[in-house]
Amino acid sequence: MQSRLSLVSKAVRDIQRLAVIGSGQMGTGIGLVAARYAKVKVQLVDSNPVQLNKGLSFIRTLLEKDEKKGRISKIEIEEVISRISLVDGISQLDAPDFVIEAASENLAIKGAIFKELSEKVGPECILATNTSSISITKIAGYTNCPERVVGMHFMNPVPVMKLVELIPALQTDSSVVEKTKEFAERLGKTVTTSTDSPGFIANRLLMPYINEAVMALESGIGSREDIDTTMKLGTRVPMGPLELADFIGLDTCLAIMQVLHTEFGDSKYRPSVLLTKYVDAGWLGKKTGRGFYTYS
Ligand code: CAA
Repeated sequence: MQSRLSLVSKAVRDIQRLAVIGSGQMGTGIGLVAARYAKVKVQLVDSNPVQLNKGLSFIRTLLEKDEKKGRISKIEIEEVISRISLVDGISQLDAPDFVIEAASENLAIKGAIFKELSEKVGPECILATNTSSISITKIAGYTNCPERVVGMHFMNPVPVMKLVELIPALQTDSSVVEKTKEFAERLGKTVTTSTDSPGFIANRLLMPYINEAVMALESGIGSREDIDTTMKLGTRVPMGPLELADFIGLDTCLAIMQVLHTEFGDSKYRPSVLLTKYVDAGWLGKKTGRGFYTYS
């Protein structure tokens, strides 16, 4: 008789058609690792055709960089690219068996996407969200299939970072959790599990650290370089906290701090005034060319 585990493995091998909602940095990274390592068909979905094409050319650029380093052949690149199709809306999806949403970090936007998805996809399809801090239980509440909704939190840049945080909602079925874990492993990721608590594990720890670094800058404890170099050389992290904040996006950092602050109601999560001001100024970090540092 087949064990329960091998039945799950078979179910995961059966996942062949992934849809990724959102073709920004996270969505394209997820699409790339899925097409390359899990060898599944990927439907990359975005209502903005410019963003979609930008996503695909970014994927090609990354693959060609790897070709130069002898890690992938030209033929394999074309195979990966041929598994990716561009889709301009959820209504155009072609029977995916797994969906990963990687849209903006905003509950209203995610809620509308999940409502539409749950009305569109088949009864076996798993709906995962890459939210970095919004409650999975809340997002699941927008659907008619909350038992098939799960959190699957990737780190940026997705092709480099080995982690996926797995976050079951209160309503998530245990078979969905197991399948999602195995699918993440098929993408080459190591999985940790967190309960559906604000910020989960990664951002519960990381964002207060970044926020504190901005407060340290704000109160003149050190220059941006002193703060970053202290943490880089002193704790052997690849980027100092201010450089990392620019890399993640200051709007994303602020949104996560606001979730922690609102949900816990604890002043220790109060977003730094300087962080808020930078976001108000449109200085969102690397993506806008200016944050704590400037980028050309
Ligand atoms: N996409 C894909 N690959 C990328 C990349 C990108 N955007 N940026 C860099 N890389 C790859 C490079 O191709 C290179 O690959 P190989 O070594 O295999 O050739 C490798 O990363 C190193 O790149 P570089 O030499 O150009 O630069 P680096 O050594 O300075 O590394 C970095 C860049 C990988 C981003 C590194 O600085 C780093 O790890 N930074 C910390 C990233 C981090 O902490 N991410 C988590 C953020 S928190 C989050 O994502 C969660 C959230 O909810 C906010």
